[in-house]
Amino acid sequence: MSSTPAELKAEILRLTRQYSALMHQANRPGAEGARPFVPGQTTVPYAGRVFTEDEVEAAVGSTLDFWLTLGPEGEAFERELAALLGVKHTLLVNSGSSANLVAFSALTSHKLPAHKRIMPGDEVITVAAGFPTTVAPIIQYGAVPVFIDNDPLTGNARMEHLAAAFSPGKTKAVMMAHTLGNPFDLATVLEFCRQHDLWLIEDNCDALGCTYSMPVERAKALGFTENSPGIPDNGTHITRYSGTWGDISTQSFYPPHHLTMGEGGSVNIVHRPPLKTYAESFRDWGRDCWCASGKDNTCNKRFGWQLGELPKGYDHKYIYSHLGYNLKPLDPQAAIGRQQLKKLPAFVEARKQNWETLRAGLADLARFFEFTLPTHATGWQPGSFTWDATGCRTDCSWFGFMIRVKPGSPFTHIQLGRHLDEKKIGNRMLFGGNLLRQPAFVQLRKDRPQAFRVASALTGADEIMNQAIFLGTYPGLTSPMLQYEIDTIRAFAAGH
Ligand SMILES: Cc1ncc(COP(=O)(O)O)c(C=O)c1O
Repeated sequence: MSSTPAELKAEILRLTRQYSALMHQANRPGAEGARPFVPGQTTVPYAGRVFTEDEVEAAVGSTLDFWLTLGPEGEAFERELAALLGVKHTLLVNSGSSANLVAFSALTSHKLPAHKRIMPGDEVITVAAGFPTTVAPIIQYGAVPVFIDNDPLTGNARMEHLAAAFSPGKTKAVMMAHTLGNPFDLATVLEFCRQHDLWLIEDNCDALGCTYSMPVERAKALGFTENSPGIPDNGTHITRYSGTWGDISTQSFYPPHHLTMGEGGSVNIVHRPPLKTYAESFRDWGRDCWCASGKDNTCNKRFGWQLGELPKGYDHKYIYSHLGYNLKPLDPQAAIGRQQLKKLPAFVEARKQNWETLRAGLADLARFFEFTLPTHATGWQPGSFTWDATGCRTDCSWFGFMIRVKPGSPFTHIQLGRHLDEKKIGNRMLFGGNLLRQPAFVQLRKDRPQAFRVASALTGADEIMNQAIFLGTYPGLTSPMLQYEIDTIRAFAAGH
């Protein structure tokens, strides 16, 4: 029997779907035919990939096409994510950490005006508790992170410490994360950045799908007049996704994140197109050429450039304007990501609902726990929040459900975490806690005490490190799983 390649491919993909249904269905929480959940026996992960036959088919289809390196699927993903967010460009990279490295590096380009270029010794304001690779690129380059404290209630930076962290002539940027899917106070940070002409790099790795709203007048004063695509105009507020307010932002597509392609990340260039060229150069070996993979002579003068001290006509493909890296993912990863993108709205909704279920289920344990609040919220009641007087609002696409064990409670967060672990309930601490207490930073302080600066007492970051634990909110959690988590925590607390 002879078949054309297209017919063979269609058959392989049909079988792939069939295989995936047989092979993966049983492990898909809540799916038809899934293994039943047995409390105490079935592990409740804090996060994980949520996928169907669509992703498996996309991975196999792209692998059969065998482009391999970043190509048609990658370009399509970049366009689709940029359109969804309403940013100028998205560039795919191989992780969220690489995204942070590329985003930061773009702001060190010699092609920027001197007063905007981040140079070694310049300062970047960031926050003490969080994930280390939000900060590492700053130090690796020889710039100086200036740490401010976290508000333990939101997990985000304490705005009142921004001013103390500023050094005239030295501070060039603010770079920090929207903690666990809770956008930081963007209005205050942006006003601070505008006042001092600073870049804002939003680490949006844990916050895809969050929105932030500010009153129209305040947004206008910051230069924002439009909502993100698809968000209806309410006449009073400008509402945009987190990751679209700063100059540049980053995503992670590692499995626990809002969408996954296994490994992966992206750099979102919000509104200044030249930053794309610089970011792309740092991602792609530092090259000056911007041809897509497999293409030549996009500039139409491949042999017509004279740059640096190279001879006129030197092949533009091998001209390097930056000291770069190679941080591209593979095309099949992007193919998986494109299927995940279609599911993002449902994923975001599930994360919100799971957070609400956990919050409601544990509400009467307030004598043991302090519950996280969205930035700008002043309180929670079932199904809604009360808000501060700023008029700003956050709508959180939660990465996790964070609680702090109150001082004086009869148990610690470590005891709780260990107990949950024994009960097969996935839990995590807020990543590195107060990063300055990590061995890498203790060593750095010994080796190069000038490598970073601390602008305020870090009591909130310590509180997070000493008291906070989070449960998952990922879309794979089913009602019985969430109920089991609630029952287990309640029983643990009652036992004390
Ligand atoms: C806030 C934040 N930034 C960056 C990263 C790094 O992402 P990746 O694991 O894809 O390198 C993470 C990882 O979870 C993160 O939580």
